[in-house]
Amino acid sequence: MKHREYMWLGRAAVLGLLTGLGACGGGNSGAAPQGLSQTALAGQQLFFDASLSASGKQSCGTCHVPSRAFTANPATDQGLPVPLGGPNMDLPGFRNTPSLMYSSFTPPFDGTGLVGGFFRDGRASSLAVQAEQPFVTPFEMANSGPAEVVTRLQNSPASLQAFEGVYGSEVLNDPATALQDMGLAIAAFETEEPSFHPFSSKYDYWLQGQAQLTTQEQQGLALFNNPVKGNCTACHPSQRQGYSDHALFTDFTYDNIGIPRNWSIAANFPKPVSPIDGVPLSYVPAQSNVPGDAEYGYYDMGLCGPFAPPADDPNPRVSLATTTTVCGQFKVPTLRNIAITAPYYHNGAFGSLQQVLEWYVTRDINNDTGNNPNPVAAGSADGNPYVAVGTFYTAADGTADQFEYNDLPVDYDANVNVGEVPYTPPTFGGGQAPTLDAEEIEDIIAFLCTLTDGYDPSNPAAYDVPAQCTAPVNVLTPTSSAASASR
Ligand code: HEC
Ligand code: HEC
Repeated sequence: MKHREYMWLGRAAVLGLLTGLGACGGGNSGAAPQGLSQTALAGQQLFFDASLSASGKQSCGTCHVPSRAFTANPATDQGLPVPLGGPNMDLPGFRNTPSLMYSSFTPPFDGTGLVGGFFRDGRASSLAVQAEQPFVTPFEMANSGPAEVVTRLQNSPASLQAFEGVYGSEVLNDPATALQDMGLAIAAFETEEPSFHPFSSKYDYWLQGQAQLTTQEQQGLALFNNPVKGNCTACHPSQRQGYSDHALFTDFTYDNIGIPRNWSIAANFPKPVSPIDGVPLSYVPAQSNVPGDAEYGYYDMGLCGPFAPPADDPNPRVSLATTTTVCGQFKVPTLRNIAITAPYYHNGAFGSLQQVLEWYVTRDINNDTGNNPNPVAAGSADGNPYVAVGTFYTAADGTADQFEYNDLPVDYDANVNVGEVPYTPPTFGGGQAPTLDAEEIEDIIAFLCTLTDGYDPSNPAAYDVPAQCTAPVNVLTPTSSAASASR
């Protein structure tokens, strides 16, 4: 897929980070020049050290690229919505890489209200526990265990020096503890380094009276907040909550919003094989919670699996594998920097904000499935402003899928949130009209673009926003080639 927005480089945020990198190393006591603790500086060194992976080619920073708000770059992952990793960098992952920006504000998982926790299913209890996992995940950095990670650390002089400067050398005799310390250092980096949370968007400066939002951007904000229009703020709050002094555009809760299946994820293929070399995927996790009526073999159902809390987590999240009512729920992500982090959702089903918005407001009215006997045609007065009936829910061969929420077993379709705007089931509010028309969708996108960090109030003209902010970009994710690879 060719997205012009991937070419964009987030200037200010990147410059901030690079300044930090430039100042790295040296100092042996007191605060480092840019204010990072020695622990965070060690974490920074580990975060960008590809020699700690089995391939020698992958670090945290390979999948969490600073210029892309710390998301992956599909352009370097053969256009896939999920990253490649493993010893030979040819094993596709299961989920779209989330932005790490603002993730240090995430509260610990709360099993009562289903809030917080790390990963899209909250399965890691802290940033530090999360940071241990990629090192030993077979389709990511792919070490066989903590001992192999420690051996690689011992062979990487700059990282070893930074690590020993904080934790000493003794701990290397206890690889499990050493890996925990590496996690703590990386978590300190993600928490302290300002470029993970600069709050430097146009919206932030506007709130402080140092920037002007255009009329369109202000209309977009109003629609974003309006409970009968976008209602986005209900899950992506535009007002600050208890987690930060600033609005984070996530409330860290979980929801099942019925996203279409993405046929370019290898695990979703009718016969899961690598899109790179056609070799069967041997590492697709077994699922116990898929009912017998399931259409397909593999489902990513978020909170209820297939991924379980790490075995070595000191505060393990409660297992939700048998709580089937939460199947399909994923953590609400922040919308800060959303314009530069395509593709969207846990499965990368959509390539542009235009598609995201079109899908949100027409999800339940223009699909051509058994769930919806009377699809509302595109272009009709009360219909979808853009998209032909049957666009979003497709089977592997591209034809309309028989079932609407096709990334969930049919038995769990009732888990999908249908009661809240912007979803518009035919019966909702007594009508079939989408809650947003074409122009209103443009307005919301214009507002979402103001959440891009790197605005300079002394030089507004230099604010660099990606292509989809200046002209509608409507790119469907490339499902056909990947799906045919599975035949
Ligand atoms: C192969 C690509 C890849 C590598 C390498 C990688 N990540 Fe990730 N990261 C992902 C993906 C994909 C997810 C989402 C996985 C999930 O939800 O199950 C993720 C999730 C996360 C999250 C959770 C964010 C949230 O909102 O809960 C954090 C934090 C994170 N990664 C940090 C790191 C760190 C630190 C490293 C290095 C030790 C790292 N990642 C290495 C791809 C990668
Ligand atoms: C009922 C809660 C809810 C409402 C209302 C809601 N969202 Fe979301 N949104 C979510 C959840 C949950 C996800 C993540 C789902 C997933 O990845 O499976 C999400 C994901 C997104 C994403 C993708 C983020 C990423 O990093 O991939 C965008 C963009 C988005 N929402 C925009 C909006 C906009 C714009 C509105 C208003 C028109 C809106 N949302 C309304 C719950 C909601």
